[in-house]
Amino acid sequence: MRSFTVYAIFLIAILPRLFLQGHSLSPFSSALETLQKQLGYTFKSTSLLRRAMTHASFSEENNKAFSIFGATIIETSVSFNLLSKDVDVSAKELNRRISLISNVDSSCAVDAMRLSLHKVVRVSPKTNSSSPSVLCGAFRSIFGAIALDAENSDDAGKVFLTVHGRDFGVSMAM
Ligand SMILES: *[C@@H]1O[C@H](CO)[C@@H](O)[C@H](O)[C@H]1NC(C)=O
Repeated sequence: MRSFTVYAIFLIAILPRLFLQGHSLSPFSSALETLQKQLGYTFKSTSLLRRAMTHASFSEENNKAFSIFGATIIETSVSFNLLSKDVDVSAKELNRRISLISNVDSSCAVDAMRLSLHKVVRVSPKTNSSSPSVLCGAFRSIFGAIALDAENSDDAGKVFLTVHGRDFGVSMAM
């Protein structure tokens, strides 16, 4: 009887708390673990990745600003990658690559789906987590979050190039 009471207390009082606070137990936390493996980057502060995976429809604490930051990191890494290979690249070509990489439907939403972000990002019940704008916001936010975590935006740019593929657009240009 006594052990039953202890067990019941555990189930009622402690288990839900473990579920909310524990890292390995909540589905969201385990999705974040998997995502870090896919990215090849382990966060020192997982709260940054949690925020990156939180859409504005879900809470006040969300990824809107991270996503703007992440978009500039992506543009910087694309520019750096291209110019470091060919210093004579034309402004037109550089702009073309930047607009390719910034295209919501053909670029970031595709990368995001490859990482299954639609299954990770937290949205309100009315919001479609597979919509390109939600996917791109989450995808771009990852790089803002990495830059903040690493205190260095170069690391975030490198993770982007690895995830997206370094030779993006090359076959199309040839
Ligand atoms: C969510 O968005 C995706 C991509 O735009 C679309 O294919 C899907 O049908 C949408 N789902 C719902 C329930 O609206």
